[in-house]
Amino acid sequence: MTEETIETIVTKEQNANTDLLQDSPFMRACRREPVPYTPIWLMRQAGRYMQEYREVRARTTFLELCKTPELATEVTVYAAERLGVDAAIIFADILLIVEPMGIELEFTKGEGPQLHNPIRTSADVDRLREVESMDALDFVLEAIRQTRRALKADLPLIGFAGAPFTLASYIIEGGSSKNYIHTKQLMYTDAGAWHEMMSRIARSLARYLNAQIAAGAQAVQLFDSWVGCLSLHDYREYVLPHTRTVIKNITRGTPVLHFGTGTAAMLEAMKEAGGDVIGLDWRVDLSDAWQQLGDVAVMGNLDPLALFADKDFVRGEARRILDGAANRPGHIFNLGHGILPETPVDNVIALVDAVHEMSRR
Ligand code: CP3
Repeated sequence: MTEETIETIVTKEQNANTDLLQDSPFMRACRREPVPYTPIWLMRQAGRYMQEYREVRARTTFLELCKTPELATEVTVYAAERLGVDAAIIFADILLIVEPMGIELEFTKGEGPQLHNPIRTSADVDRLREVESMDALDFVLEAIRQTRRALKADLPLIGFAGAPFTLASYIIEGGSSKNYIHTKQLMYTDAGAWHEMMSRIARSLARYLNAQIAAGAQAVQLFDSWVGCLSLHDYREYVLPHTRTVIKNITRGTPVLHFGTGTAAMLEAMKEAGGDVIGLDWRVDLSDAWQQLGDVAVMGNLDPLALFADKDFVRGEARRILDGAANRPGHIFNLGHGILPETPVDNVIALVDAVHEMSRR
Protein backbone atom coordinates (compact mmCIF):
# COMPACT_ATOMS: atom_id res chain seq x y z
CA MET A 1 0.00 0.00 0.00
CA THR A 2 1.24 3.48 -0.75
CA GLU A 3 1.46 5.98 2.07
CA GLU A 4 -1.26 7.97 0.44
CA THR A 5 -3.80 5.15 0.62
CA ILE A 6 -2.94 4.46 4.26
CA GLU A 7 -3.57 8.12 4.94
CA THR A 8 -6.90 7.98 3.12
CA ILE A 9 -7.96 4.95 5.17
CA VAL A 10 -6.99 6.63 8.42
CA THR A 11 -8.91 9.76 7.44
CA LYS A 12 -11.97 7.68 6.54
CA GLU A 13 -11.84 5.91 9.86
CA GLN A 14 -11.57 9.23 11.69
CA ASN A 15 -14.57 10.58 9.79
CA ALA A 16 -16.58 7.47 10.62
CA ASN A 17 -15.68 7.90 14.29
CA THR A 18 -16.61 11.58 14.17
CA ASP A 19 -20.03 10.59 12.78
CA LEU A 20 -20.48 8.00 15.53
CA LEU A 21 -19.64 10.56 18.20
CA GLN A 22 -21.77 13.32 16.69
CA ASP A 23 -24.73 10.92 16.41
CA SER A 24 -24.50 9.79 20.04
CA PRO A 25 -27.49 10.56 22.30
CA PHE A 26 -25.38 12.98 24.37
CA MET A 27 -24.23 15.07 21.40
CA ARG A 28 -27.70 14.98 19.84
CA ALA A 29 -29.21 16.21 23.11
CA CYS A 30 -26.66 19.06 23.29
CA ARG A 31 -27.97 20.14 19.88
CA ARG A 32 -31.60 19.59 20.97
CA GLU A 33 -32.18 16.84 18.42
CA PRO A 34 -34.43 13.81 19.05
CA VAL A 35 -32.78 10.92 20.92
CA PRO A 36 -33.64 7.21 21.35
CA TYR A 37 -33.35 7.64 25.16
CA THR A 38 -32.33 10.41 27.57
CA PRO A 39 -28.54 10.52 27.90
CA ILE A 40 -27.08 10.62 31.39
CA TRP A 41 -23.65 11.35 32.87
CA LEU A 42 -22.77 12.52 36.37
CA MET A 43 -20.57 15.28 37.64
CA ARG A 44 -17.64 13.81 39.58
CA GLN A 45 -18.47 10.38 38.18
CA ALA A 46 -14.85 9.33 38.73
CA GLY A 47 -14.05 9.82 42.38
CA ARG A 48 -13.71 8.61 45.93
CA TYR A 49 -17.13 6.90 46.09
CA MET A 50 -15.60 4.23 43.81
CA GLN A 51 -13.42 1.52 45.31
CA GLU A 52 -11.29 1.30 42.14
CA TYR A 53 -10.60 5.05 42.24
CA ARG A 54 -9.54 4.82 45.89
CA GLU A 55 -7.12 2.04 44.94
CA VAL A 56 -5.45 4.10 42.22
CA ARG A 57 -5.50 7.14 44.50
CA ALA A 58 -3.86 5.21 47.36
CA ARG A 59 -0.70 4.92 45.23
CA THR A 60 -0.28 8.65 44.59
CA THR A 61 -1.40 12.16 45.51
CA PHE A 62 -4.41 13.77 43.88
CA LEU A 63 -2.24 16.24 41.93
CA GLU A 64 0.10 13.49 40.72
CA LEU A 65 -2.92 11.50 39.60
CA CYS A 66 -4.08 14.51 37.56
CA LYS A 67 -0.58 14.95 36.14
CA THR A 68 -0.08 11.33 35.06
CA PRO A 69 -2.03 10.90 31.80
CA GLU A 70 -2.05 7.08 31.99
CA LEU A 71 -3.69 7.18 35.43
CA ALA A 72 -6.09 10.00 34.56
CA THR A 73 -7.10 7.97 31.49
CA GLU A 74 -7.58 4.83 33.56
CA VAL A 75 -9.94 6.42 36.09
CA THR A 76 -11.88 8.36 33.41
CA VAL A 77 -12.52 5.30 31.25
CA TYR A 78 -13.16 2.99 34.19
CA ALA A 79 -15.87 5.22 35.69
CA ALA A 80 -17.67 5.76 32.38
CA GLU A 81 -17.70 2.05 31.55
CA ARG A 82 -18.60 0.86 35.03
CA LEU A 83 -21.59 3.20 35.24
CA GLY A 84 -22.71 2.78 31.62
CA VAL A 85 -23.15 6.54 31.21
CA ASP A 86 -23.49 8.34 27.88
CA ALA A 87 -20.43 10.60 28.19
CA ALA A 88 -17.06 10.50 29.91
CA ILE A 89 -15.57 13.57 31.60
CA ILE A 90 -11.82 13.87 31.65
CA PHE A 91 -10.31 13.33 35.09
CA ALA A 92 -8.69 16.64 36.07
CA ASP A 93 -9.50 19.59 38.30
CA ILE A 94 -10.66 23.15 37.76
CA LEU A 95 -7.70 24.40 39.81
CA LEU A 96 -4.92 22.96 37.63
CA ILE A 97 -4.81 26.12 35.52
CA VAL A 98 -3.84 28.31 38.49
CA GLU A 99 -0.29 26.88 38.58
CA PRO A 100 0.75 28.30 35.18
CA MET A 101 -0.92 31.56 36.29
CA GLY A 102 1.68 31.75 39.04
CA ILE A 103 -0.34 30.44 42.00
CA GLU A 104 1.01 27.69 44.26
CA LEU A 105 -1.52 24.88 44.61
CA GLU A 106 -1.70 22.11 47.18
CA PHE A 107 -4.37 19.57 48.10
CA THR A 108 -4.16 18.65 51.76
CA LYS A 109 -6.07 15.77 53.29
CA GLY A 110 -9.26 16.96 54.92
CA GLU A 111 -8.75 20.63 54.12
CA GLY A 112 -9.31 20.56 50.39
CA PRO A 113 -7.44 22.83 47.99
CA GLN A 114 -5.01 25.44 49.30
CA LEU A 115 -3.62 28.24 47.14
CA HIS A 116 -0.66 29.66 48.96
CA ASN A 117 -0.22 33.07 47.36
CA PRO A 118 -3.74 34.37 46.77
CA ILE A 119 -4.52 37.50 44.78
CA ARG A 120 -5.96 40.23 47.00
CA THR A 121 -4.84 43.59 45.67
CA SER A 122 -4.33 45.37 42.40
CA ALA A 123 -0.55 44.76 42.72
CA ASP A 124 -1.29 41.04 43.10
CA VAL A 125 -3.43 41.13 39.96
CA ASP A 126 -0.42 42.48 38.04
CA ARG A 127 1.54 39.33 38.89
CA LEU A 128 -1.28 36.97 37.84
CA ARG A 129 0.01 35.52 34.57
CA GLU A 130 -2.25 34.97 31.60
CA VAL A 131 -1.81 31.44 30.20
CA GLU A 132 -0.62 31.75 26.60
CA SER A 133 1.22 28.49 26.02
CA MET A 134 -0.39 25.19 26.93
CA ASP A 135 2.96 23.50 27.68
CA ALA A 136 2.44 23.55 31.44
CA LEU A 137 -1.00 21.93 31.03
CA ASP A 138 0.01 19.40 28.40
CA PHE A 139 -0.64 16.56 30.86
CA VAL A 140 -4.37 17.35 30.66
CA LEU A 141 -4.24 17.43 26.86
CA GLU A 142 -2.25 14.18 26.79
CA ALA A 143 -4.82 12.57 29.12
CA ILE A 144 -7.54 13.68 26.67
CA ARG A 145 -5.64 12.21 23.69
CA GLN A 146 -5.12 8.91 25.49
CA THR A 147 -8.67 8.79 26.83
CA ARG A 148 -10.12 9.51 23.40
CA ARG A 149 -8.16 6.53 22.02
CA ALA A 150 -9.22 4.27 24.91
CA LEU A 151 -12.94 5.11 24.96
CA LYS A 152 -15.54 3.37 22.83
CA ALA A 153 -15.72 5.08 19.44
CA ASP A 154 -19.26 6.36 20.08
CA LEU A 155 -18.77 7.65 23.64
CA PRO A 156 -18.22 11.43 23.75
CA LEU A 157 -15.56 12.91 26.02
CA ILE A 158 -16.23 16.14 27.91
CA GLY A 159 -13.40 18.57 28.62
CA PHE A 160 -13.87 21.20 31.31
CA ALA A 161 -12.61 24.22 33.20
CA GLY A 162 -13.75 26.37 36.07
CA ALA A 163 -15.76 29.41 34.99
CA PRO A 164 -14.08 32.79 35.59
CA PHE A 165 -15.97 33.59 38.80
CA THR A 166 -15.53 30.23 40.52
CA LEU A 167 -11.87 30.16 39.58
CA ALA A 168 -11.39 33.76 40.75
CA SER A 169 -13.00 32.87 44.08
CA TYR A 170 -10.31 30.23 44.71
CA ILE A 171 -7.51 32.47 43.45
CA ILE A 172 -8.61 35.27 45.78
CA GLU A 173 -9.74 33.33 48.86
CA GLY A 174 -6.85 30.87 48.66
CA GLY A 175 -9.21 27.91 49.02
CA SER A 176 -12.84 27.02 49.53
CA SER A 177 -14.94 29.71 51.16
CA LYS A 178 -18.20 30.27 52.94
CA ASN A 179 -18.81 33.99 52.54
CA TYR A 180 -16.40 35.01 49.74
CA ILE A 181 -15.30 38.01 51.78
CA HIS A 182 -12.04 38.75 49.94
CA THR A 183 -13.63 38.07 46.56
CA LYS A 184 -16.49 40.50 47.07
CA GLN A 185 -14.21 43.01 48.76
CA LEU A 186 -11.97 43.18 45.68
CA MET A 187 -15.01 43.27 43.41
CA TYR A 188 -16.62 46.15 45.31
CA THR A 189 -13.56 48.23 46.15
CA ASP A 190 -11.41 47.91 43.02
CA ALA A 191 -13.56 47.17 39.98
CA GLY A 192 -10.61 47.95 37.71
CA ALA A 193 -8.41 45.28 39.27
CA TRP A 194 -11.35 42.87 39.35
CA HIS A 195 -12.10 43.24 35.63
CA GLU A 196 -8.41 43.04 34.73
CA MET A 197 -8.09 39.79 36.69
CA MET A 198 -11.27 38.33 35.20
CA SER A 199 -10.11 39.26 31.68
CA ARG A 200 -6.79 37.46 32.18
CA ILE A 201 -8.60 34.42 33.53
CA ALA A 202 -11.21 34.43 30.73
CA ARG A 203 -8.65 34.60 27.92
CA SER A 204 -6.60 31.84 29.56
CA LEU A 205 -9.69 29.65 29.87
CA ALA A 206 -10.72 30.06 26.24
CA ARG A 207 -7.27 28.94 25.08
CA TYR A 208 -7.23 26.04 27.52
CA LEU A 209 -10.69 24.78 26.49
CA ASN A 210 -9.88 25.10 22.79
CA ALA A 211 -6.70 23.08 23.38
CA GLN A 212 -8.83 20.41 25.08
CA ILE A 213 -11.13 20.36 22.03
CA ALA A 214 -8.14 20.08 19.68
CA ALA A 215 -6.82 17.20 21.79
CA GLY A 216 -10.07 15.25 21.38
CA ALA A 217 -12.89 16.54 23.62
CA GLN A 218 -16.31 16.58 21.91
CA ALA A 219 -17.90 19.07 24.33
CA VAL A 220 -16.70 21.33 27.14
CA GLN A 221 -18.22 22.28 30.47
CA LEU A 222 -17.66 25.45 32.46
CA PHE A 223 -18.10 24.85 36.20
CA ASP A 224 -19.43 27.98 37.87
CA SER A 225 -20.06 26.05 41.08
CA TRP A 226 -20.12 29.01 43.46
CA VAL A 227 -21.66 31.76 41.31
CA GLY A 228 -24.94 31.40 43.24
CA CYS A 229 -23.43 33.48 46.06
CA LEU A 230 -23.90 36.60 43.91
CA SER A 231 -26.90 38.85 43.41
CA LEU A 232 -28.29 38.96 39.91
CA HIS A 233 -27.03 42.53 39.65
CA ASP A 234 -23.48 41.58 40.59
CA TYR A 235 -23.54 38.61 38.23
CA ARG A 236 -24.42 40.88 35.34
CA GLU A 237 -21.97 43.60 36.37
CA TYR A 238 -18.91 41.60 37.39
CA VAL A 239 -19.17 38.14 35.86
CA LEU A 240 -21.39 37.79 32.83
CA PRO A 241 -19.14 39.67 30.36
CA HIS A 242 -16.16 37.47 31.27
CA THR A 243 -18.04 34.18 31.05
CA ARG A 244 -19.34 35.40 27.70
CA THR A 245 -15.77 36.08 26.53
CA VAL A 246 -14.83 32.48 27.27
CA ILE A 247 -17.89 30.96 25.62
CA LYS A 248 -17.89 33.12 22.50
CA ASN A 249 -14.27 32.19 21.85
CA ILE A 250 -14.86 28.43 22.00
CA THR A 251 -14.26 26.57 18.73
CA ARG A 252 -17.48 26.69 16.67
CA GLY A 253 -19.51 23.50 16.59
CA THR A 254 -18.42 22.29 20.02
CA PRO A 255 -21.26 22.28 22.55
CA VAL A 256 -20.63 24.24 25.75
CA LEU A 257 -22.27 23.10 29.00
CA HIS A 258 -22.69 25.99 31.42
CA PHE A 259 -23.12 24.81 34.99
CA GLY A 260 -23.74 26.53 38.32
CA THR A 261 -25.50 25.94 41.63
CA GLY A 262 -27.78 28.23 43.62
CA THR A 263 -28.56 29.93 40.32
CA ALA A 264 -32.39 30.01 40.34
CA ALA A 265 -32.34 33.82 40.22
CA MET A 266 -29.79 34.09 37.42
CA LEU A 267 -30.63 31.33 34.94
CA GLU A 268 -31.63 33.73 32.19
CA ALA A 269 -28.48 35.78 32.72
CA MET A 270 -26.40 32.59 32.54
CA LYS A 271 -28.05 31.79 29.25
CA GLU A 272 -27.18 35.28 28.01
CA ALA A 273 -23.55 34.61 28.92
CA GLY A 274 -23.79 31.60 26.65
CA GLY A 275 -23.81 27.86 26.42
CA ASP A 276 -25.74 25.19 24.56
CA VAL A 277 -26.72 23.36 27.75
CA ILE A 278 -27.57 25.10 31.02
CA GLY A 279 -27.08 23.26 34.32
CA LEU A 280 -29.95 23.21 36.84
CA ASP A 281 -29.53 22.38 40.50
CA TRP A 282 -32.22 20.61 42.59
CA ARG A 283 -33.66 23.83 44.07
CA VAL A 284 -35.53 24.64 40.87
CA ASP A 285 -38.39 22.82 39.17
CA LEU A 286 -37.01 21.51 35.87
CA SER A 287 -40.09 22.25 33.84
CA ASP A 288 -40.48 25.82 35.15
CA ALA A 289 -36.78 26.57 34.77
CA TRP A 290 -36.72 25.24 31.24
CA GLN A 291 -39.75 27.29 30.30
CA GLN A 292 -38.06 30.37 31.70
CA LEU A 293 -34.87 29.59 29.75
CA GLY A 294 -36.52 28.85 26.42
CA ASP A 295 -34.48 27.63 23.48
CA VAL A 296 -31.54 25.91 25.10
CA ALA A 297 -30.77 22.37 26.34
CA VAL A 298 -30.77 21.64 30.09
CA MET A 299 -29.02 19.19 32.38
CA GLY A 300 -28.89 18.33 36.08
CA ASN A 301 -31.63 18.76 38.66
CA LEU A 302 -31.32 15.60 40.78
CA ASP A 303 -30.21 16.26 44.37
CA PRO A 304 -26.95 14.27 44.86
CA LEU A 305 -28.30 13.31 48.30
CA ALA A 306 -31.15 11.38 46.65
CA LEU A 307 -28.51 8.71 45.98
CA PHE A 308 -28.26 8.09 49.72
CA ALA A 309 -31.85 6.78 49.86
CA ASP A 310 -32.95 3.36 48.58
CA LYS A 311 -33.24 2.27 44.95
CA ASP A 312 -37.01 2.76 44.83
CA PHE A 313 -36.57 6.37 45.86
CA VAL A 314 -33.83 6.85 43.24
CA ARG A 315 -36.10 5.39 40.55
CA GLY A 316 -38.95 7.61 41.71
CA GLU A 317 -36.76 10.69 41.41
CA ALA A 318 -35.60 9.63 37.94
CA ARG A 319 -39.27 9.25 36.95
CA ARG A 320 -40.20 12.65 38.39
CA ILE A 321 -37.40 14.49 36.56
CA LEU A 322 -38.02 12.64 33.28
CA ASP A 323 -41.71 13.55 33.55
CA GLY A 324 -40.72 17.20 34.04
CA ALA A 325 -38.65 17.06 30.86
CA ALA A 326 -41.51 15.27 29.04
CA ASN A 327 -39.30 13.98 26.19
CA ARG A 328 -38.60 17.48 24.96
CA PRO A 329 -35.42 17.42 22.86
CA GLY A 330 -32.39 18.78 24.72
CA HIS A 331 -32.58 17.07 28.11
CA ILE A 332 -29.42 15.55 29.57
CA PHE A 333 -29.86 13.75 32.88
CA ASN A 334 -27.36 14.63 35.62
CA LEU A 335 -27.15 15.52 39.27
CA GLY A 336 -27.57 19.13 40.36
CA HIS A 337 -23.99 18.97 41.70
CA GLY A 338 -21.15 16.43 41.98
CA ILE A 339 -21.45 12.93 43.46
CA LEU A 340 -20.35 12.93 47.10
CA PRO A 341 -17.56 10.60 48.31
CA GLU A 342 -19.90 8.53 50.54
CA THR A 343 -22.41 7.74 47.76
CA PRO A 344 -23.30 4.03 47.29
CA VAL A 345 -22.07 2.96 43.83
CA ASP A 346 -25.00 0.56 43.36
CA ASN A 347 -27.47 3.42 43.61
CA VAL A 348 -25.56 5.37 40.97
CA ILE A 349 -25.72 2.41 38.60
CA ALA A 350 -29.43 1.95 39.45
CA LEU A 351 -30.00 5.60 38.49
CA VAL A 352 -28.25 5.23 35.13
CA ASP A 353 -30.23 2.07 34.34
CA ALA A 354 -33.52 3.63 35.45
CA VAL A 355 -33.01 6.71 33.25
CA HIS A 356 -32.18 4.58 30.21
CA GLU A 357 -35.08 2.22 30.77
CA MET A 358 -37.75 4.77 31.61
CA SER A 359 -36.84 7.24 28.88
CA ARG A 360 -36.64 4.83 25.92
CA ARG A 361 -38.79 6.31 23.16
O1 CP3 B 1 -16.43 14.79 37.14
C1 CP3 B 1 -15.40 14.09 37.10
O2 CP3 B 1 -15.40 12.87 37.35
C2 CP3 B 1 -14.10 14.75 36.68
C3 CP3 B 1 -13.24 15.12 37.76
C4 CP3 B 1 -13.39 16.41 38.52
C5 CP3 B 1 -12.69 16.61 39.74
N1 CP3 B 1 -12.85 17.91 40.11
C6 CP3 B 1 -11.92 15.58 40.43
C7 CP3 B 1 -11.61 15.75 41.86
C8 CP3 B 1 -14.05 17.60 38.22
C9 CP3 B 1 -14.98 17.92 37.08
C10 CP3 B 1 -13.67 18.55 39.23
C11 CP3 B 1 -14.09 19.96 39.23
C12 CP3 B 1 -13.89 20.75 40.46
N2 CP3 B 1 -12.81 20.82 41.27
C13 CP3 B 1 -14.83 21.69 40.92
C14 CP3 B 1 -16.13 22.01 40.27
C15 CP3 B 1 -17.10 20.92 40.45
C16 CP3 B 1 -17.97 21.08 41.63
O3 CP3 B 1 -18.05 20.12 42.41
O4 CP3 B 1 -18.58 22.14 41.77
C17 CP3 B 1 -14.29 22.28 42.08
C18 CP3 B 1 -14.97 23.33 42.93
C19 CP3 B 1 -13.01 21.74 42.27
C20 CP3 B 1 -12.02 22.10 43.33
C21 CP3 B 1 -11.79 20.95 44.21
N3 CP3 B 1 -11.06 19.86 43.84
C22 CP3 B 1 -12.31 20.71 45.51
C23 CP3 B 1 -13.17 21.69 46.29
C24 CP3 B 1 -11.89 19.45 45.89
C25 CP3 B 1 -12.28 18.69 47.14
C26 CP3 B 1 -11.20 18.55 48.12
C27 CP3 B 1 -11.51 17.39 49.05
O5 CP3 B 1 -10.56 16.85 49.60
O6 CP3 B 1 -12.67 17.01 49.21
C28 CP3 B 1 -11.12 18.91 44.82
C29 CP3 B 1 -10.46 17.62 44.80
C30 CP3 B 1 -10.96 16.63 43.80
N4 CP3 B 1 -11.23 16.89 42.49
C31 CP3 B 1 -11.18 15.25 44.05
C32 CP3 B 1 -11.58 14.68 42.83
C33 CP3 B 1 -11.87 13.25 42.53
C34 CP3 B 1 -10.95 14.51 45.37
C35 CP3 B 1 -9.46 14.45 45.62
C36 CP3 B 1 -8.98 13.12 46.14
O7 CP3 B 1 -8.99 12.11 45.43
O8 CP3 B 1 -8.50 13.14 47.29
